[in-house]
Amino acid sequence: MVAKEIIDLKRQGAELAESDIRAFIAGFVSGEIPDYQMSALAMAICCRGMTAGETAVLTDAMMRSGSMLEWGEGLPVADKHSTGGVGDKLSLVIQPLAAACGLRVPSLTGRGLGITGGTADKLETIPGYNASLSLARFREIVAAVGVSMTVQTGEICPADKKLYALRDVTGTVASIPLITSSILSKKLAEGAGTLVFDVKCGKGAFMRTFDDAKALARSLVESSRAAGRKALALVTRMDAPLGRAVGNANEVAEALAMLRGEWDWALEPLPLCVELAARMVALAKEIAVDEARELAWTKLKSGEAARFFEDMVMAQGGDLEAFAARRAGAKTHRFRICAPRSGYIEGIDALTAGQVALALGAGRKTAGERIDPYAGIDLEVAVGDHVLTGAPLATLVTATLPDSLEQEAAKLLAAFSFSREKPDSKPLIMEEVA
Ligand code: URA
Repeated sequence: MVAKEIIDLKRQGAELAESDIRAFIAGFVSGEIPDYQMSALAMAICCRGMTAGETAVLTDAMMRSGSMLEWGEGLPVADKHSTGGVGDKLSLVIQPLAAACGLRVPSLTGRGLGITGGTADKLETIPGYNASLSLARFREIVAAVGVSMTVQTGEICPADKKLYALRDVTGTVASIPLITSSILSKKLAEGAGTLVFDVKCGKGAFMRTFDDAKALARSLVESSRAAGRKALALVTRMDAPLGRAVGNANEVAEALAMLRGEWDWALEPLPLCVELAARMVALAKEIAVDEARELAWTKLKSGEAARFFEDMVMAQGGDLEAFAARRAGAKTHRFRICAPRSGYIEGIDALTAGQVALALGAGRKTAGERIDPYAGIDLEVAVGDHVLTGAPLATLVTATLPDSLEQEAAKLLAAFSFSREKPDSKPLIMEEVA
């Protein structure tokens, strides 16, 4: 069937045949099918949707457009994927923790775009850290250390790279089948037998409503299973920034504090990190979640997870002592905001915090922009804390944009809401999709 007929069929809401989906993706990757026809099909998919079967075929076709990793005999191979949020440094804790629990964790991570930070950008604030490994070196580090985090190379899923660039400029990002096939094709190509998804939901997330987040979680889990992987998703709250740091180097420092026991064990988002690692371990090793959770806490509290992180950093050329020294000596402009009234912190709008961090230089507005490693926000309070008038709420940090500091500070202050009564604490985990 020719491309136009396939587009017509999807526009009319028909279910596409497996051979047509595969031929379309192959033609797009080879250049035979032009961008405008791929964009038209993406728009038709956005409007008409896809069945679970079509989504699985699309995912498989995209996965097979590039290299696929195989890990062979040995410890179970697993990974966790987050759909991204503000202050989301969870991978820096979860991946080494899962490795410390006896999994191999090959983690291809992304760079930040818009208000969502990227794990690779955060890791690159460690002097010497190579987040652009060749696939061969990535394999060696996973074999030697148990965990490696690097950016997806051009060898993995070229179909997604090409299609995502088109979706970004044609208003076709917001489609559950397209998001599922985009995320999953990359994760499946990584070769992990177990995948755990952290689907963020709320003001600072891609998925704003619970129903949308749950639908994406279901689609990711079902499509992973269709590809023969063990999978599970947690829908987690993303209304306020996670932890106290929003940025890059400050988030690495915060993750290190969590790994090294310099963070209150009971304080979120550490329990969420343990829960996600425990789900990876339980699924991959086929043990009870309670047993996996206990193992994860033991590995965290004993410092073993921190050692896995440190060994990974060293294997990838990073120097954590230089990281601490450079961060301490970084020339930055800082602006502190204080509570205009006393009361409980009812909310800290994650979207606004993400936009402010982006404006300060911690993120990139367009792909390829440089980020300022030390820019961002250091929160001094969390939702539920009580403050008196004048108490510090947060510090804004930038190296490059001192002129807009005060304006951004006013915007961040407006992100805080206060209440007389202590707000009910809302658990980060909203739903499990198994
Ligand atoms: N992240 C991806 O990798 N792809 C999408 O389509 C959306 C988020």
